[in-house]
Amino acid sequence: MFSVFKSVSMDFASARLAILSVLQGVCAEDLPRLLRWMRTTNDFDEFTSSNDDIILRNIAEDLRHRLPTEAMLSSEHLAVQKLHQQTKPTVHIDAFLYDDDCIDSLCEEGKMSRNYCLTCGSHQTAPLEFISHSFSLMELKFLYRHVLPDLTGKAVVDVGSRLGAVLFGGYFYSSASQIYGVEMNTDFCQLQEVIIAKYQLHERLKVINADICTQASLLQNADIIVMNNVFEYFLDRSEQARSWEFIRQNVIKKSSLLVTVPSLEKSLSELQVDIQLNQWVEALPLDYDVFLEEDADREALEQIYLYKIL
Ligand SMILES: C[S@@+](CC[C@H](N)C(=O)[O-])C[C@H]1O[C@@H](n2cnc3c(N)ncnc32)[C@H](O)[C@@H]1O
Repeated sequence: MFSVFKSVSMDFASARLAILSVLQGVCAEDLPRLLRWMRTTNDFDEFTSSNDDIILRNIAEDLRHRLPTEAMLSSEHLAVQKLHQQTKPTVHIDAFLYDDDCIDSLCEEGKMSRNYCLTCGSHQTAPLEFISHSFSLMELKFLYRHVLPDLTGKAVVDVGSRLGAVLFGGYFYSSASQIYGVEMNTDFCQLQEVIIAKYQLHERLKVINADICTQASLLQNADIIVMNNVFEYFLDRSEQARSWEFIRQNVIKKSSLLVTVPSLEKSLSELQVDIQLNQWVEALPLDYDVFLEEDADREALEQIYLYKIL
């Protein structure tokens, strides 16, 4: 049956009629069995899950057209300044917007290079450092489908939601009932709102334009808190320390889960903070082998850490 549908590309109305006509053609004694199978089978998962990937790719493409290649905005004064202070030649490439194939195309078009010349700094011969300010689709799928438990009825907070990758990923890859993004940059909040309105995602997604340090009750009530490289590139050291202290004081719901990139130890190691990790969290081990996608980048997945709040 599916091979017939696959070979012909039908629109919704024709596909619906074709399905109804198949049902009408089923012998009466087998119809209840067939209907039960349609209601309970996993055979449709392949179709529904690849549809989620397609919508997320469409959102990424949409965002690409609305942003410069580096996906950074002039309103991110400190981040732009920090980019220029990197000791190794570095490109900012947003992994949600650009997968490896997209980067290859940009390189072919001469709009980007993966390498630079060791002597003069031109983009010729040694690999450049790549920094991404968003999770890739692959990381989002790993996070929501393999790291986190069933999120039915749960509230997720993405601290520093930027383009909304964690929000959109959560919408399509999880059943979380509410996913909040808190982002201090107004331009990025407006961009997330445009996508939420265009793809009609407002029922479960909400963007808050604020410094996370004003959102105590949101953090206190969250079941899952996601912190992907939130502060390091965007705040000076004293602000990073102040923000981590605030996170420590308010991410306190027992058994809630905290996802970080990189590890808490690494994020806090160079800051003047008084945070006793062993009194706050328990690190939970992750199984990378459960994720067998062809394009899985194990090195990127190994940067993701999961903690249970004590
Ligand atoms: C690396 S991006 C994370 C993107 C997104 N969470 C993801 O994983 O795809 C970090 C974002 O955090 C925002 N940010 C940094 N400090 C913040 C703060 N104190 N309150 C709210 N947003 C903050 C930055 O503006 C930046 O857009």
